[in-house]
Amino acid sequence: MPTNRRITTRFLSAERLAAMVGEKGLAPCLAGLAGYIDEDFRRWNVFAKTARVANHSRDGVIELMPISDGELYAFKYVNGHPKNFRFGLSTVMAFGVLADVATGIPTLVSELTLTTALRTAAMSAVAARALARPGSRRMAVIGNGAQSEFQALAFHHLLGIKEFHLYDSDSAATEKLLGNLDKLGLRGKRFASTKEAVKGVDIVTTVTADKTNATILTPEMIEPGMHINGVGGDCPGKTELHAEVLRMSRVFVEYEPQTRIEGDIQQMPADFAVTELWQVLTGQALGRCDPGDVTVFDSVGFALEDYSALRYMRDLARELGVEDAISLIPELPDPKNLFGFIPGFEACLPAPAEKAVAAWPGAAANQAVPGLAHAA
Ligand SMILES: NC(=O)c1ccc[n+]([C@@H]2O[C@H](COP(=O)([O-])OP(=O)(O)OC[C@H]3O[C@@H](n4cnc5c(N)ncnc54)[C@H](O)[C@@H]3O)[C@@H](O)[C@H]2O)c1
Repeated sequence: MPTNRRITTRFLSAERLAAMVGEKGLAPCLAGLAGYIDEDFRRWNVFAKTARVANHSRDGVIELMPISDGELYAFKYVNGHPKNFRFGLSTVMAFGVLADVATGIPTLVSELTLTTALRTAAMSAVAARALARPGSRRMAVIGNGAQSEFQALAFHHLLGIKEFHLYDSDSAATEKLLGNLDKLGLRGKRFASTKEAVKGVDIVTTVTADKTNATILTPEMIEPGMHINGVGGDCPGKTELHAEVLRMSRVFVEYEPQTRIEGDIQQMPADFAVTELWQVLTGQALGRCDPGDVTVFDSVGFALEDYSALRYMRDLARELGVEDAISLIPELPDPKNLFGFIPGFEACLPAPAEKAVAAWPGAAANQAVPGLAHAA
């Protein structure tokens, strides 16, 4: 698609984005994303923020996540359907848009399924770098599905984690993660339960998917100094941590109004103390106060992370010379003549009245519309 249009909407397909990540390299991408996220969280107060708009159904949720800093506007469409694997589909699927606030032009439409996994892992690493004990070397990964490799890689490259303790209720998922870690030269070890996997580790990442109030981590599993990176509890009625684990910890969140609804803290009273992470990153609040503190990053995924990720992917595409574009918005010689954009519209007119009525039977002027018969 030629790009000599006045209105250009760049397009990053799933395949193109995967190729870009392959060309740049996973570790540089994760580092780049972490840098963009860190930078944007430090600009927290310039963003117009809102909790995401969720549409819940029996087996899942579809959400819209908008945000703007007055120059760029971003939104993500994302779902969460834990039973999708039964149909050979991913639990999480996403795409997103970056737009120019001054004109409203959507300047980028991008896949965000792979990008969400990368940005979630980068976000987890940004939080852990601020909250986990320095020198952390071992991490348990509970839930070994689609997100898990990205979490492991981000913690390896950005925090220096050397050893991964793995557990999933589906042993095939652990087998898959072990195999992928092995190919990457990373040390993974399989355990028979969460309890065994978390013993003696510095960091626990919970990244399970089940639309229920689960208790993946219970108080007797928690050791002094642990950092818990709770990723899978991200929706009303979908939690991973026992309430007592939260009570014994210092809890950090992305955007408090959203996390109160969706995070593990949905189980806690409205005045349960939490700290927004941006405050720690900017030095306005303390993170870990003592090596013995238990810290929890109650991650739900906030629109700002997708804004950062879209910005990063846009810049990476520029760096790699990727110029794919789509014709999304009509280009009009006269912006008031949108009608003229329909090719040969004159030939379509006048439409025989019977044709219009056949296309929309209810259009017949004197046909009664059920329920409106007595409308004034
Ligand atoms: N916080 C965020 O920003 C963010 C971003 C993306 C995904 N998520 C969430 O992360 C979770 C994982 O996503 P995914 O794409 O990897 O899903 P997935 O379905 O690919 O993997 C989830 C894994 O969890 C395992 N599991 C379920 N219950 C378990 C239990 N009780 N004990 C151990 N393992 C269990 C499943 O067997 C599966 O292998 C989802 O809940 C998703 O909504 C959060």
